[in-house]
Amino acid sequence: MIGAGYVGLTTAVCLAHLGNEVRCSDIDSDRIQGLSLGSVPIVEDGLTELLKQGLGSGALTFSVDNEWGVENAEFVFLCVPTPQGPEGRANTSIIEQVALEIGPHLAPKAIVVNKSTVPVGSTHIVERALGRYDVRVVSNPEFLREGSAVQDFLHPDRIVIGADDEETAIQLSALFLRLGAPIVVTDPATAETIKYASNAFLATKLSFINAIAALCEAVGADVRQVALGMGYDPRVGSSFLKPGPGWGGSCFPKDVAALIGLAEDAGYDFALLKGVVSVNVAQHARVVEKALRLAGGDVRDKRVALWGLTFKARTDDMRDSPALEIGRHLNELGAIVTAYDPTVRGSLDGLEVVDDPYAACSGASVLVVATEWDEFRWLDFERVGSLMERRAVVDARNLLDLAAMRRAGFAYEGIGIL
Ligand code: UDX
Repeated sequence: MIGAGYVGLTTAVCLAHLGNEVRCSDIDSDRIQGLSLGSVPIVEDGLTELLKQGLGSGALTFSVDNEWGVENAEFVFLCVPTPQGPEGRANTSIIEQVALEIGPHLAPKAIVVNKSTVPVGSTHIVERALGRYDVRVVSNPEFLREGSAVQDFLHPDRIVIGADDEETAIQLSALFLRLGAPIVVTDPATAETIKYASNAFLATKLSFINAIAALCEAVGADVRQVALGMGYDPRVGSSFLKPGPGWGGSCFPKDVAALIGLAEDAGYDFALLKGVVSVNVAQHARVVEKALRLAGGDVRDKRVALWGLTFKARTDDMRDSPALEIGRHLNELGAIVTAYDPTVRGSLDGLEVVDDPYAACSGASVLVVATEWDEFRWLDFERVGSLMERRAVVDARNLLDLAAMRRAGFAYEGIGIL
């Protein structure tokens, strides 16, 4: 396993758990040292337990040395980042660099499995960089969600394998057979496209429900009931229909931008996805407008409390987090933003971060709930209200009890509800 980030680490511990001998390497020596001692650098349910199990049984070992990692390996998984490059295009230089490095050290007939999300055609780029004609390169995109990565790996909805020959696909399938999931075997370009199309479709679903939420506010409808009514139709499905402050995280923004760029390079103007992105950008702005309104029309030199900094609950990941975007906007408007998040400590650019949700509310003219942490629902809102300058809440996740909040004297606005 090359790369011990979200995807690499989860894949490594889960494959070790399934009975394989796994060597995992990463250039980050602190991370590797910690992992060797059983310490997981991210907040992720169940990962620490499986890591300790793998270390204890000897099935899982770590090093900074890629050459050691690939030695005699039957399968080599590439799980390195593909950061956003110019104009949203995915930058594949890291994966190419790794391929150049490991090529000469691969065992004869090894199978190199690309799990990183890469532009369509990258499987063949990796093949060329490896420079080995006995080695096969396969695309095997990962669909795990942060916060439930281990569960998602061990109970996948489907496994996608993009290979140029059937024999290689069958060999890789054998590794996942115990998971009992449907396996889609296809060519590499199609597998790579499946990953982008899946993430872009989910982002589209979210922008759609956020747009419907805006409409609901204008016409006096309740988006929660609309989503419920739509979701019973199996063609729509009830999941991924919760309106919020906009979608974020390490995958959606990057992958949607990459797909737009990829389409452009291929001569197709993906206008639909451009609209999906603009709805998302507008969603951050809508939350800020609500905060402005509830704070009395102006936030200059006023205190604003922000609950939640991560892009969603049950993770400590703040990459492309709508909460940060909203905090930044408010800051630009002159607000003094004090934030609390159960997993975030220390200071952030322009935001004061405190380690207590009540302290964040002290003297605030409005509270913005940006992440759906369950613990926020159970706080003492009488105490919250008594600490605030104004009893006003923008609940960008529709997390709190609207009736209870209004009964306690709060001016309360959710998303798509009246
Ligand atoms: C996503 C995909 O789900 C996963 O398959 C892929 O491999 C990586 O990207 P993740 O980034 O962990 O996973 O986040 P996810 O749980 O899918 O949420 C994405 C964003 O949508 C978050 O900002 C979340 O808050 C938002 N969201 C999700 C909503 O606003 N409403 C919903 O109903 C669901």
